[in-house]
Amino acid sequence: MKQTITLGIALLLCATWAAAAAAPPAPKLPAYRTWQKSERKVVTDKQSLFYGIHYIYADAGAMKGYKAGNRFPEGSRIIVEHFNIKGGDTTVDGPKNMVVLMQKDKRQQATGGWLYAGYTAAGKPSGLDPVKNCYECHLKQAADRDFVFSSIADFTVKGAKP
Ligand code: HEC
Repeated sequence: MKQTITLGIALLLCATWAAAAAAPPAPKLPAYRTWQKSERKVVTDKQSLFYGIHYIYADAGAMKGYKAGNRFPEGSRIIVEHFNIKGGDTTVDGPKNMVVLMQKDKRQQATGGWLYAGYTAAGKPSGLDPVKNCYECHLKQAADRDFVFSSIADFTVKGAKP
């Protein structure tokens, strides 16, 4: 498989994160706090898009999809909430940085049947291009898993009830 996370893509993403690109209107950020939450994920590789701390949230439909081995029903929603690392301390979440959403939507043919949207820390749409800034990377590296990198294993937190 041709899989290379290029630093270029990550840098491009960072550079354009706040810039308004021509994108279809992002839906209002859903109230995701009650959804199933993943384990806490710390990425210390500064070249990674997800450098920092993040949590994945999945709604009921998305949880069904994870359980089915990444085959997601229409309407499934998955969110990543991302925090910076402050002062090199990875044990606490730094300031919130951004939120991203994937929503299974068969009308979004240009992006593999998923709607992609990025939001600021305050939850306002950040106007990213869903193809260039999102889909191209998910397509390159996760096409064989319904474009979703994470799996059910990310939601089995030690000590949590099944
Ligand atoms: C350079 C590659 C890359 C780009 C660009 C990218 N992502 Fe991702 N995305 C990832 C990786 C890797 C993960 C898995 C993170 C994990 O395992 O915790 C991920 C995870 C996600 C998830 C959780 C579901 C999943 O696939 O595991 C959502 C939602 C998401 N990204 C949305 C977006 C949106 C929206 C954009 C554009 C604003 C975007 N991503 C841009 C690489 C990328």
